[in-house]
Amino acid sequence: MKAFLLLVAAALVAIAVALWTGIFNVSALVPHWGITSEIIEFARDRSVEVHSRDVRIPSLDDPKLAARGASQYHETCRICHGAPGVAAEVIAQGLYPAPADLLSGESQKELGDKQLFWIIENGLKMTGMPAFGTTYQKNELIEIAAFVKHLPAMTPQQYRAATSNSGQNTQEHNNSGAP
Ligand code: HEC
Repeated sequence: MKAFLLLVAAALVAIAVALWTGIFNVSALVPHWGITSEIIEFARDRSVEVHSRDVRIPSLDDPKLAARGASQYHETCRICHGAPGVAAEVIAQGLYPAPADLLSGESQKELGDKQLFWIIENGLKMTGMPAFGTTYQKNELIEIAAFVKHLPAMTPQQYRAATSNSGQNTQEHNNSGAP
């Protein structure tokens, strides 16, 4: 037992010394080791699963909800995540970890409705994913989440039509014709 405690203490000291030397490179140009990435991803997935359990929202499959989330997605999320026929902006290219690909459908397959909503509301610590729970109302967050759920099935034409009254296309903000 004593030997074990000594070993733990020695390991903690070694970690503290390693951190103090500055050997851990915080440069966003240098990827994590494979093992570090796996630990972070495991911790993130479990955290989202556990914390989103109590989320109460309607089904995100409703196309009417999705249509109402289009302009917000276009103004905010597109900058980092891109959209059908629209590339993400320069700011997204240097982010580490890189913004998730929300167009392929992989994320939507892996995340349940509650988890999708929770991530948009809370953001993800130590990544570039912001929390939108302080900037949008709950109903708006639900609409954005529903839009994200429908995104992989959209063609560039459908995306353009759905967002034709927001930001990039009209220069100024105008919601008057939003669905
Ligand atoms: C400043 C850049 C940025 C903006 C703006 C942004 N995100 Fe993200 N988002 C990220 C990054 C980076 C990740 C990846 C985090 C990770 O790897 O854990 C991410 C991850 C996500 C995920 C999790 C995907 C998965 O497979 O786990 C969802 C869902 C998401 N974003 C939705 C949105 C929505 C919806 C908006 C707009 C309301 C938005 N994001 C705006 C950077 C951004």
